[in-house]
Amino acid sequence: MKPSISDVQEYLSLEPLTTRIHTHQRYSELPNDVDGTVLKAVSLSRDADLLDVGCGTGAFLRDLAAQGHQGRLVGLDTSPAAVQALGGVAGVSAHLGNAMDLPFDAASFGVVTARHMLYHVPDVQRALAECRRVLRPEGIFAAVVNHSDATPRISALVADLVSAAGVELPVPPNSRVHSDNLPQMLESTFTSVVVHRYDNALVFDRPEPVIAFAVAQLSFYGVEPDSALRPELTRAIETKVRAWFTSAEGAWRDPKGHVVCTARLSK
Ligand SMILES: C[S@@+](CC[C@H](N)C(=O)[O-])C[C@H]1O[C@@H](n2cnc3c(N)ncnc32)[C@H](O)[C@@H]1O
Repeated sequence: MKPSISDVQEYLSLEPLTTRIHTHQRYSELPNDVDGTVLKAVSLSRDADLLDVGCGTGAFLRDLAAQGHQGRLVGLDTSPAAVQALGGVAGVSAHLGNAMDLPFDAASFGVVTARHMLYHVPDVQRALAECRRVLRPEGIFAAVVNHSDATPRISALVADLVSAAGVELPVPPNSRVHSDNLPQMLESTFTSVVVHRYDNALVFDRPEPVIAFAVAQLSFYGVEPDSALRPELTRAIETKVRAWFTSAEGAWRDPKGHVVCTARLSK
């Protein structure tokens, strides 16, 4: 099964993803080191063979390689841009492929990670079964997903404007797989599921980063990167956010959070 057109188009360029990542890194109220918490949760040893499914910008694997990781570092993504982003990084191999049909032999990896990517997979249970298949018996799997109600203010702003422009809103990615239902999904494929919950918020003291973050969400609300509605919707977002900062006192605070879940093949 192929990913939806929207997901493929969204990640043809990694720019919106990079904007969202930078926003979380710079404007989170509490520390937001997602990759660090994943590494801690899996207790990564330097010689572990690690597969990162949906590797995105590649920063996770690039950083591990730069730190002198000794085991195999392998990234996989449906986006050619993601694969290209890891091209030429010594010690890392990148593959174009789908989480639902991993192009690796059974029991190939000691660690498999799926950070902030399960939302996009049409058949999550099939992807989890694939992650389980390629994991060694003593291995560990880690997945990260957001809370279903993350950043409600920005979500409502974008949803209202997109809907007013006549676009039919798709099911938001966070509502399919989220902090509350991932543990149960994992229980049906793995054992020893452990949940680490991180509650946080985005806090902005000026409009520009809110606007950039909101625009970087448009694809998830059914507005494709090449949609003719983009310029008009970008202006509408800008107007609304600037108006809020003109009239409001204090910062724009939007609650958010995620879970890092680990799981194993046997107890
Ligand atoms: C939100 S980004 C997260 C990227 C990275 N894991 C991170 O946390 O920064 C989701 C990534 O999953 C990839 N993706 C979407 N559907 C996929 C699938 N079915 N199989 C593999 N990768 C997929 C996208 O191309 C994108 O790079």
